[in-house]
Amino acid sequence: MNNRIYIFDTTLRDGEQSPGVSLNGDEKLEIARQLARLGVDIIEAGFPIASSGDFNAVSAVAREVRGVAVAGLARTNPADIDRAWEAVKHADQPRIHTFIATSDIHLRHKLRMSRAQVIETAIAGVKRAAAYTSDVEFSAEDASRSELEFLCQVVEAAVGAGATTINIPDTVGYATPDEFAEFIRGIMNGVKGIEKVVLSVHCHNDLGLAVANSLAAVQAGVRQVEGAINGIGERAGNASIEEVAMALHTRRDRYGLETGIVTEEIYRTSKLVSKLSGMSVQANKAVVGKNAFAHESGIHQDGVLKERTTYEIMNPAMVGISHSNLVLGKLSGRHAFRSRLVELGFSLSEDELNKAFVRFKGLADRKKEITDHDIEAIVENEIRRVPVTYELAYLHTSSGTTIVPTATVGLTRGDELLEEAACGNGPVDAICKAVDKITGYHCRLAGWGINAITAGKDALGEVNLRIAENNNEKLYMGRGISTDILEASARAYVNAVNKMIYEKKNGRPAE
Ligand code: KIV
Ligand code: ZN
Repeated sequence: MNNRIYIFDTTLRDGEQSPGVSLNGDEKLEIARQLARLGVDIIEAGFPIASSGDFNAVSAVAREVRGVAVAGLARTNPADIDRAWEAVKHADQPRIHTFIATSDIHLRHKLRMSRAQVIETAIAGVKRAAAYTSDVEFSAEDASRSELEFLCQVVEAAVGAGATTINIPDTVGYATPDEFAEFIRGIMNGVKGIEKVVLSVHCHNDLGLAVANSLAAVQAGVRQVEGAINGIGERAGNASIEEVAMALHTRRDRYGLETGIVTEEIYRTSKLVSKLSGMSVQANKAVVGKNAFAHESGIHQDGVLKERTTYEIMNPAMVGISHSNLVLGKLSGRHAFRSRLVELGFSLSEDELNKAFVRFKGLADRKKEITDHDIEAIVENEIRRVPVTYELAYLHTSSGTTIVPTATVGLTRGDELLEEAACGNGPVDAICKAVDKITGYHCRLAGWGINAITAGKDALGEVNLRIAENNNEKLYMGRGISTDILEASARAYVNAVNKMIYEKKNGRPAE
């Protein structure tokens, strides 16, 4: 049997279905480019029929990201399939991924269809997709809760109709590893022609078993694994791509299988997805969490210093975590800054470099040691994705246990400096109100969170927040970084307001 595992990444589709996550076209394209560098085999870029934004994003990924298959999701109906094809057709390898549910629960309550109708609809959908492309994936939604015999009939019909990949989702994360492996073997033994197609799994993490179930399926003979970076996705998420890839790599003695993943790109990909999705990675997350390679106890530290492998089964460098801590400081010049950026894999235009350098100098005045993480955070924050209407010029706040929190904010709009002051329930509230006075928009905070990007008391903090105009449901995400969490909040708020203004002016999200 072939020992190559294909990695199907659905960060941009299932991952984007994570509650509260909404990526614009430009952000999707940036993630897709990084996924290609990471070496995934298939990028599922979205669900083209879902909205024109999704259609445009899938289409942009298909046109611009080369050397990788690009999939668009579609139900089995003609309109979905036609739309998916329109979106992916310019890809190097366009794939239509069509699905219909096969469990009795879904048939009875959701589809209200008989088993015969499901088979008929699956055949029609796959045939329509196969008329467009030779790369057709068929998924039996809620497969793991379907009756095996009926599932085999549907799968056999889909293979007969021209599907080239058959995907078996554990849609609600209900399976256990041993049971799922047995189920997969049942499909391999029960479907005529199954050896002609690539068998795939797509596991959700409701019981924390998504990666374990995927690996059990691999051992049973599956050759495509679906998942998302950082394990994001519906509810508790999908199998985490970086965990699957590193398990297969680290335990190749056990699995004897290969992926095309460039492991050194894992950390960068994880950071990018976390930043753009606004979903932070838990500190103890396997492979990419802040603590994944941190050793706290004296015994462990002593062991690692004597010999790294005493307590480390993976080398952090292998997943792209850089070891250099003290990189640049207050006296470092532009040249050194630029060289370090190149070493970190950034390629910036002169204008972006200038902005990043100004922020670097500002940070170096406040923070003694500038690490790679600081530099990454600066650059990622400085590369403008949204045409900027307002920029933070200065901020002054006063708050305490016995005084009313107040904020004075200066924003620039072009060459103009606009200033306002406001009181609030807390300093962040006061800042938002002062910004609102300047912009004339009245927004509410629908979410606010902070992460420490780097270590130490002078760590850089990253604020992610969501705003919506009063009486409006539409959310805009903003990000800001600073050693001062109030300044980071102000930057994040202004970033979100700029996105809102752009969309109002242009009738579409900033791209
Ligand atoms: O979880 C699921 O079943 C899905 C399918 C559309 C593949 O996401
Ligand atoms: Zn899913």
